Amino acid sequence: MNPQEINRQLEEMQPWPVERLIAYLRRDHQRFLGKDLTRMRELAEALGMAPLHAFLGTMDSELRGHFRMEETIVFPVIEVMKNKEAGELHPALEYACRHMKADHLLHERHLQVLHSFTSQIDTQQGSELSIPLLNLMDDFASEMELHLKLENNFLFQPFLKFRSSEDPKDS
Ligand SMILES: [Fe+2]
Ligand SMILES: [Fe+2]
Repeated sequence: MNPQEINRQLEEMQPWPVERLIAYLRRDHQRFLGKDLTRMRELAEALGMAPLHAFLGTMDSELRGHFRMEETIVFPVIEVMKNKEAGELHPALEYACRHMKADHLLHERHLQVLHSFTSQIDTQQGSELSIPLLNLMDDFASEMELHLKLENNFLFQPFLKFRSSEDPKDS
C-alpha cells in the first residue's frame, strides 16, 4: 500500500459508523499480533537474524499492552459516548485518547526502525524465507500506518478538539 492508497482507504472509511470502525480495528489487532508479528519472528529466527527477532519481540509486547488498553477501556467508552455528550467522562476520555496518540508516535518510530532492517535482508540467501519476510514487513508497515491514522483522525480526534482553558479561542 503506497501513501496514495492509504489516503484513498482513509477517504473511503471516513463515513463508517464508529461500531464498524472499531470492529475493523479489533480485527487488525488480532492479525498484527496473532499472525503478522508471529510469522515475521519465525522467519527472522529461521534466517538467523537475532537483532530483528529481538526487535520484533519488543514491538510485540509494546503493541500487546497498547491494544489491550484500547480494547478494554478506550473503545468501549467511545462506543458508549457516541451521539452523547461525554459530560463528566470527557476529561478521562480525553486523557486516554491523548495517551493512545502518544503511544502511536512510538509505534511510528518502531516502524521506521523496522524499515531500516529491510536493507539487512539478503534476498539472494534463503530467498524462500527472505522474500516472504520482506513482503510481510512492507504489508505490516502500511497496514499499521493506516491503523494509526484511522484511530488518530477518526476515533480519537473528536475527543481532543476541545482544549482546556489554556487557549479560550479554542475552547
Ligand atoms: Fe489500535
Ligand atoms: Fe492505537
